[in-house]
Amino acid sequence: MITPIEELPLEGRRVFLRVDLNVPLTRDGDTISVGDDTRLLACLPTIKHCIERDARIVLASHLGRPKGEVKPELSLEPVALRLAELLDREIRLTDEPVGDGARKVTSDLREGQIALLENLRWHPGEKANDDKFAEALASYADIYINDAFGTAHRAHASTAGMVSRFADKGAGFVMKREMAQLAKLRDNPESPYVAIIGGAKVSDKLEVLTALLSSVQTIIIGGAMANTFLLAKGFKMGKSMVEESKLALARNFLRKASQKRVTIILPKDLVVADGLDSPTGTVVPVDMVPKEQMALDIGPQSAKLFSEVASQARTLFWNGPMGVFEKTPFAQGTMAVAQAVADNSFGYTVVGGGDSAAAVHQAGIADKISHVSTGGGAALEFIQGIVLPGIAALESD
Ligand code: 3PG
Repeated sequence: MITPIEELPLEGRRVFLRVDLNVPLTRDGDTISVGDDTRLLACLPTIKHCIERDARIVLASHLGRPKGEVKPELSLEPVALRLAELLDREIRLTDEPVGDGARKVTSDLREGQIALLENLRWHPGEKANDDKFAEALASYADIYINDAFGTAHRAHASTAGMVSRFADKGAGFVMKREMAQLAKLRDNPESPYVAIIGGAKVSDKLEVLTALLSSVQTIIIGGAMANTFLLAKGFKMGKSMVEESKLALARNFLRKASQKRVTIILPKDLVVADGLDSPTGTVVPVDMVPKEQMALDIGPQSAKLFSEVASQARTLFWNGPMGVFEKTPFAQGTMAVAQAVADNSFGYTVVGGGDSAAAVHQAGIADKISHVSTGGGAALEFIQGIVLPGIAALESD
């Protein structure tokens, strides 16, 4: 059983609150700021709940992948500034995740005050789930709350190792909501269940694609990973990104899908160009990709087909962009899919993954989607039925 935050005795206590503040940063000259504050907004209710109960709050998160080294460009400082603005409260950022500075800042906290430990991954002990590092983190608080659903698939010191040291531990509002919403896809999805999976690499998504074969009726595949499937079906892909080494796996997956009578839909047309920096692209059918060009988005016919299929779904899950959507000429396929998910008003619709979530926020249609997950990899693992270490650690008997 996992204790919900409402049942934890927070009043006046020191609370270690693991949040996922791993957000994209933007740089303007020397100024680094938060590029997308969706994950910050998501954890505000949990932080406010703690403030209202006069807890002394020790926030902790990783940012990026600094590989256990102090990388100033991956400091949580811009995140602390934005969070302070959103909460209208001071946030005391420590100079390192553990050490004398962190101990002093956290022990000086008064009721309702907030400290933020510097990037946990500046220390190698975080990813290694090191016992000493976990012990140091645990020494800063009396109660542990995990609200970092996006990191729950990592067995790290702050999500797994330190948790058993607390008698009082539980899940924050983000964690609770994600578990409840995503369980609907995992446990009893209503048919027809359609999954739209995009992104760059087949290798990143093969596990989830295979797992989905047991629960969905249709899988739509877009993004650069569709190139590998198209190549596996005999289409010539020019200079497009393909994973030659995954062709056998792609063919095997297509065979399994047909055995299980799951319909796989691939793009019918593509937007091709000379390279990522081309100012425009040309629409071609999939059997006419020019030798010297590369596919960078799905074409309008594919977008129409994908949208039609999505409109019939009673359960609809979307993860991964349809093209290089950060470049305007190649963003249309992804935006069309975002719109199609939002337009399905009678099904249960879920969007997961940083790029897909960013697309629905960018289009201003997030409120038309049943659930926009804050997790990428964590959401994919959860819907496959994999037990996430960050969730398992919260279980108490
Ligand atoms: C995410 O953004 O998916 C989480 O914060 C986990 O980050 P990671 O993939 O670097 O572990």
